Amino acid sequence: MANIERDEVSGTDTTGHEWDGIKELNTPLPNWWLWTFYATILFSIVYWILYPAWPTLSDYTKGVLGYSSRVNLTEDLEARDKARESWTKQFAALPIADIAKDRKLLEFAMAGGKVIFADNCAPCHGSQGSGAPGYPVLADDDWNWGGSLEEIETTIRFGIRSTHDDTRVSEMPVFSDDYLSPTQIAAVADHVLSLSGSGSASAAGAEVYAEECAACHGENGEGGRDFGAPRLTDGIWLYGGTKEALVAQIGNPKHGVMPHWEDRLSDVERKQAAIYVHSLGGGE
Ligand code: HEC
Ligand code: HEC
Repeated sequence: MANIERDEVSGTDTTGHEWDGIKELNTPLPNWWLWTFYATILFSIVYWILYPAWPTLSDYTKGVLGYSSRVNLTEDLEARDKARESWTKQFAALPIADIAKDRKLLEFAMAGGKVIFADNCAPCHGSQGSGAPGYPVLADDDWNWGGSLEEIETTIRFGIRSTHDDTRVSEMPVFSDDYLSPTQIAAVADHVLSLSGSGSASAAGAEVYAEECAACHGENGEGGRDFGAPRLTDGIWLYGGTKEALVAQIGNPKHGVMPHWEDRLSDVERKQAAIYVHSLGGGE
């Protein structure tokens, strides 16, 4: 073009474009830049051929390698289920006590049980079974319903005062309804305190205890698992160990409810959870 001229300062030709007296130099692109650019174009073409790339009206181009992250995932999951199947089969077939004797099965149970516990149980029982008022500690050796593997499995399966027909169930009677006088309730609360070595003994309280409470909680407060009646001698309290808390519980008892997991966890998962709970500290 006529306007192209050589710039004296840089020695480079101009493009011929000019705006308000400012002329544009036609500096060539550096070679390294150009070749990188061509390489990326080449790369993208090769990529389009090998891998899924372009949408079509109803599908997409699959690429000659047949790669698909979804297919890969499905294959991974199938492989995992296969690997697990051998575990779950053994798990389903064996009684829980035998599972705990096999080191490999025990490892599988603990890994799964930990996750199951965190997802399902920790909201009430605390992480690692640390408990909360009204929700028993599962990491100690104080069991209201039983701490063997089978007992724990049963508790998980049927729940406690749950909606399941086979639930563990019992009810501490209400003693305040003209049944025991406030004085008697205070006295028996004193007696209960003295069972765990705090507070002073009360002869009147001991008498009430023997008549009204021993049938469930045991003659000496050792607890009664048939009724889920807590041991009263160990200073471990579901509802608090102050005299007010005891008076409240005796006068108007709370009844803890633990849901059942028969529908929500599989047989294998309940075994895993039971083994995990059993390992938390106080399994029998
Ligand atoms: C909604 C709250 C809640 C959830 C969730 C829950 N529990 Fe419980 N659990 C309780 C309560 C409340 C009790 C005490 C019932 C009672 O008063 O006897 C209990 C009692 C127990 C006991 C009996 C303890 C003993 O001393 O005998 C075991 C074992 C147990 N839970 C395990 C589990 C496991 C395992 C899970 C998870 C699969 C779970 N719980 C989920 C509320 C819950
Ligand atoms: C029918 C059986 C039964 C009788 C009778 C009974 N209890 Fe209970 N008691 C229970 C049960 C079951 C629980 C646990 C309630 C729960 O898990 O929510 C309990 C809980 C308690 C607690 C709370 C323990 C804690 O860890 O916080 C105290 C205290 C107690 N009872 C004292 C008494 C006294 C005192 C009497 C007699 C006046 C008595 N109970 C009579 C069944 C009984």
